[in-house]
Amino acid sequence: MGRRRKAFARLVPARPKCWTSRRRPRILSGIRTTARLDHESPARLGLSGWACWRKENDVARAAIPFHELLVKTHQLWDEQWLLLTAGDFQEGRFNAMTVGWGSLGTMWGRPFAQVVVRPTRHTYGLMERYGTFTLCAFSEEYRPALKLLGTRSGRDGDKIAASGLTPVRSTLVAAPSFAEADLILECRKVYSDDIRPARFLDPGIDTNYPLKDYHRFYFGEIVAILGQPGYRAAGGGQ
Ligand SMILES: Cc1cc2nc3c(=O)[nH]c(=O)nc-3n(C[C@H](O)[C@H](O)[C@H](O)COP(=O)(O)O)c2cc1C
Repeated sequence: MGRRRKAFARLVPARPKCWTSRRRPRILSGIRTTARLDHESPARLGLSGWACWRKENDVARAAIPFHELLVKTHQLWDEQWLLLTAGDFQEGRFNAMTVGWGSLGTMWGRPFAQVVVRPTRHTYGLMERYGTFTLCAFSEEYRPALKLLGTRSGRDGDKIAASGLTPVRSTLVAAPSFAEADLILECRKVYSDDIRPARFLDPGIDTNYPLKDYHRFYFGEIVAILGQPGYRAAGGGQ
């Protein structure tokens, strides 16, 4: 047995059952719980749960406390894009779509991600039905996958399979994330409302809605962040 495998065997007792073990982390459906969560997911997962998740996903992502998340927000949304996924991995019912509009910040004393989804999207029904969602960021090599997921509808076929991306279970929420992602934000829906054209203070904004399909916006409390080291501020946050 190699040194790394030995180290892993020490972390995980014989034949770990990962997600079916007693230490299985609670998966948020958004309906089953309203509990406030801290944002250090490995602590909540327990050592074996965390080690299993890392092994299952085979990636160098690690948990990032919200205060240490390092992103250029406008660049992330507008240029890199994110993949919004709603639904339930365990039920096998979920969908993903590319998003370019949204925000990250602090609201009601909690870190949040906010997304906007037009009611015409297939993902909209899943956002309405399920209590959690994830946002995933990818490196440039996955741009074609994001283009595909942002131009085809899950209503018309298995576009996730066509994209070549691999859905995997998330650490704390029912909505899946993606194995290839460099950054994953796991979110619990806490607020939603519709964009109301009567409230546009700049009438020019209405030109984004020639079909009058005004977005519904969703605020999700970020309950876990997993990311490559580049997404973590060196030496901690402010
Ligand atoms: C770069 C990019 C950004 C997008 N941003 C959004 C967005 O923020 N909100 C939205 O409703 N649609 C957005 N879309 C469009 C959806 O991703 C697209 O309509 C998708 O096919 C919907 O998939 P679905 O029907 O499977 O949900 C974007 C598309 C692209 C390519």
